[in-house]
Amino acid sequence: MSRGERIFSRGVERGKPFEIEVDGKKIVAYEGETIGAALLAAGRRTLRFTNKLEQPRGLYCGIGLCQECRMTVDGIPNTQACQTLATPGCRIETQKSFKNREA
Ligand code: FES
Repeated sequence: MSRGERIFSRGVERGKPFEIEVDGKKIVAYEGETIGAALLAAGRRTLRFTNKLEQPRGLYCGIGLCQECRMTVDGIPNTQACQTLATPGCRIETQKSFKNREA
């Protein structure tokens, strides 16, 4: 059992489990969870890297305000992981910097 599992599993009732793919690796998410919550529960803290210094960023506000949780989800860049529900088979990629959607 990882540290993340211990912290986030006590007293929590989760929905039906399914797999999502994060940077080519499968992890388990549960119905009703955001991508950010699923990644945090799996022990994953880094969701993107800053443009200039390539510093790691992760969940910060958790309510859609700070933009620190932007990831590429099913090919769509700048998706807020804290505001987007995980869906079975969704493909998520760690993002470097802000991506122009037309690029
Ligand atoms: S964590 Fe702040 S917008 Fe997602």
